[in-house]
Amino acid sequence: MKLWGGRFSKETDTLANDFQSSIHFDQRLYKEDIRGSMAHSEMLAAQGVISQADKAAIQQGLTDILAEIEAGKVEFSPANEDIHMNIEALLTQRIGEAGKRLHTARSRNDQVALDFRMYVREQIGTVVGQLLDLEKVLCAQARQHQGTVMPGYTHLQRAQPISFAQHLLAYAAQFARDVTRLEDCRKRLNECPLGSGALAGTTYPIDRRQTAQALGFDRPCGNSMDGVSDRDYALELLSDLSILMMHLSRFAEEVILWCSWEFKFVELDEAYSTGSSIMPQKKNPDMAELVRGKTGRVYGDLMGLLTVMKGLPLAYNKDMQEDKEPVFDALDTVEQCLPVFAGMIETMKVLPDNMRKAAGRGFINATDCADYLTKKGMPFRDAYTATGRLVAACTAQGKTLEELTLEELTLEELQAVSPLFGEDVYEALKLENCMALRASFGGPAVEETTRQIEEIEAFVRARNE
Ligand code: ARG
Repeated sequence: MKLWGGRFSKETDTLANDFQSSIHFDQRLYKEDIRGSMAHSEMLAAQGVISQADKAAIQQGLTDILAEIEAGKVEFSPANEDIHMNIEALLTQRIGEAGKRLHTARSRNDQVALDFRMYVREQIGTVVGQLLDLEKVLCAQARQHQGTVMPGYTHLQRAQPISFAQHLLAYAAQFARDVTRLEDCRKRLNECPLGSGALAGTTYPIDRRQTAQALGFDRPCGNSMDGVSDRDYALELLSDLSILMMHLSRFAEEVILWCSWEFKFVELDEAYSTGSSIMPQKKNPDMAELVRGKTGRVYGDLMGLLTVMKGLPLAYNKDMQEDKEPVFDALDTVEQCLPVFAGMIETMKVLPDNMRKAAGRGFINATDCADYLTKKGMPFRDAYTATGRLVAACTAQGKTLEELTLEELTLEELQAVSPLFGEDVYEALKLENCMALRASFGGPAVEETTRQIEEIEAFVRARNE
């Protein structure tokens, strides 16, 4: 008979029972469930609601069940629907009467709300740890490439000279925000729903502050109906994970471009590449493509749960059992993607010569040329037009500005565009110098990428201590 079978005279239809059982996916909450029951029984005994002897039996029983689950010796049963009733049934089988007292002043509604919150809280720690590992990889690569000149793009058209370090550190800044977003989510979720009961609290003299504190929460949540109904933290997590995956996916897209023959800015390590079953020459960036692809399912998880929640009246509704799979799926996906991605970036070979070559076409120092004339006294808008004329002339003659030498363009040719051009223009327009001079705060100059690296490293250190 079901734990709730008292008012029923019939068994649940088999298909209906399988349909409503969640044990096949919520069994991963066993640790949180047992931890919650430990704290609950402790509090019930402290308040005189159950005896010390019952508490001791409950806690011994739960400790044994935990060990058996971890040893793989427990077979959960769909007849007991979910992890909460499975564990309660196992406990009662084992210790009898005392087991039946555990559920005093508690409902599965506050129980599941508690378990799920604690699970999400724990997983936030895992994802943050993985993000910090990725940050370390990015800082190490960036340190190697502060002087590696590459074209920076807008509209995927070569735009201005940057360093590869600057490019990597842009992603490092995004991932740092992902970390703080997850930390915010953790802060807000850290209120304990246990003691909300089914929805309306309880008549027993429970101590919600005690259980909240024992379970590592900042405080009990302040409204029992909200306590069992709120899934904001799951939605916040899914939003944060969606944004994180969007960042990873943009980065993945760039890695895919960079290792194409059209760019060849990087070469992926063989350990992070795959071959083709028909084309012998192929070395494909499957890891990056899968990260990009899996972003779709994480967005789907977010949209799915938002949609589940949108029409639900207060308080608990069984629809809410559908909250777990999307969250588990998104966490599993992100936790698979992050370490693979970090390994791929850590081991990829950067090809500075190819980056430099690509920077040598497309007039990426045209802004610097206009700035040169401006610094000689010409108003910027006129300098912009003069440089535009120079670019047009170079294009017509198949010449470049990026590899500016006397042979490429004589001083007379330059002065025909503006008499302000002097000998020093040849040095001023060297790409290495153009990059080095972009020393404004946040720019790609070496001193600024050093500052960025140090900031990210300090950010990681502050969290790893
Ligand atoms: N398995 C349920 C869930 O995940 C637990 C809560 C069930 N509560 C109830 N009144 N049916 O949501």
